Amino acid sequence: MIVGVPKEIKNNENRVGMTPAGVFELVKNNHTVYVQSGAGEGSGFFNQDYQKAGATILDTIGQVYAMSDMIVKVKEPIAQEYDLIQKGQILFTYFHFASSEALTKAMIKSKAVCIAYETVEDEDGTLPLLTPMSEVAGRMAIQQGAKFLEKPVKGRGVLLGGVPGVAPGRVLVLGAGTVGIQAAKMAAGLGAHVTIMDVNMKRLRQVNDIMPSHVVTEFSNEFNIRKHIQTHDLIIGGVLLKGAKAPNLITRDMLKDMRPGTVIVDVAVDQGGCVETTKPTTHEDPTYIIDDVVHYCVANMPGAVPYTSTVALTNVTLPYVLKLANMGWRSACKLDKSLSMGLNIVEGEVVYKEIAETFHLEEPVLV
Ligand SMILES: NC(=O)c1ccc[n+]([C@@H]2O[C@H](COP(=O)([O-])OP(=O)(O)OC[C@H]3O[C@@H](n4cnc5c(N)ncnc54)[C@H](O)[C@@H]3O)[C@@H](O)[C@H]2O)c1
Repeated sequence: MIVGVPKEIKNNENRVGMTPAGVFELVKNNHTVYVQSGAGEGSGFFNQDYQKAGATILDTIGQVYAMSDMIVKVKEPIAQEYDLIQKGQILFTYFHFASSEALTKAMIKSKAVCIAYETVEDEDGTLPLLTPMSEVAGRMAIQQGAKFLEKPVKGRGVLLGGVPGVAPGRVLVLGAGTVGIQAAKMAAGLGAHVTIMDVNMKRLRQVNDIMPSHVVTEFSNEFNIRKHIQTHDLIIGGVLLKGAKAPNLITRDMLKDMRPGTVIVDVAVDQGGCVETTKPTTHEDPTYIIDDVVHYCVANMPGAVPYTSTVALTNVTLPYVLKLANMGWRSACKLDKSLSMGLNIVEGEVVYKEIAETFHLEEPVLV
């Protein structure tokens, strides 16, 4: 199969859909890989790295789309790319169709085979191609939180690890899922005192088993949250209700109970946030202050560390890319139930129930 890797053209997107390691594996399996010139630069991978791995570099995005059977990328195609997509071409990338009717209509019109990273689903309901980005965001939340606790950026002026003779900072983590566990781990590694809360007792038991003793678990309810926000320096929002808006666990009136300079990193901002006063921010201007509480609400946190994010993402996408290239999408999806869950739009038909419902379309049965 001929596989194409275009350069991402969405604003501020520095990740790339394939690393030289992925090219190497595909070429080893007798496939041809076309990489757009400069596609990997934002992530630290250069044309010569791809060439050494066996790829051919093409000058323009138009050539990559025109010459490939399958396009592997990171973000959904944007309007400039719509007309480049070929009938029957496989597009393997994040799409998030439910948030854009324009994109959905364009992909229906393109008659391409759209396989969405975010809906590839394992039997236990986990989303293997979303997990690495949550891992990145969870770990980064502590790095960012520690920075914004510094006084010059209006934080409390607390060093998370403390020093001998001074107690460490206190971190409250809401949600003990992927984001929450990674955040707790990083905070604990810095020596901070960590309280992690969830409504899922199974999760809390797991955390309790694997974390050091300065990571304390507590059941998540309003009473406990109101108590802890008064004594914690950094609060991480990592809750998720699948397919729904995140619950407002911290309401506006609760901000006045926090100490001035408390920092909230609401990672769940992409689902509306778990703090009432959350509104999305960017890496250029990541924070704002309400009632002396610093809010960090960047909706695409992994974008700031494109090298790590690209490698983490492509580690998990590559096995599927190989399957699709080796078998073609029909056989690959027949044999791999998880991958078949990624099929969203196939040759002009929406085949994913939630997307069809969102836009009141008929969901046909795939043959
Ligand atoms: N901002 C970013 O750049 C970025 C990057 C990656 C992920 N995210 C977002 O981070 C959020 C968390 O993702 P995840 O992968 O960790 O999800 P996850 O499903 O692994 O974990 C979510 C946890 O929240 C818990 N929860 C639900 N209701 C709760 C409540 N009332 N109190 C406490 N805990 C509760 C769940 O039981 C679960 O353990 C999602 O909204 C995700 O989209 C954002």
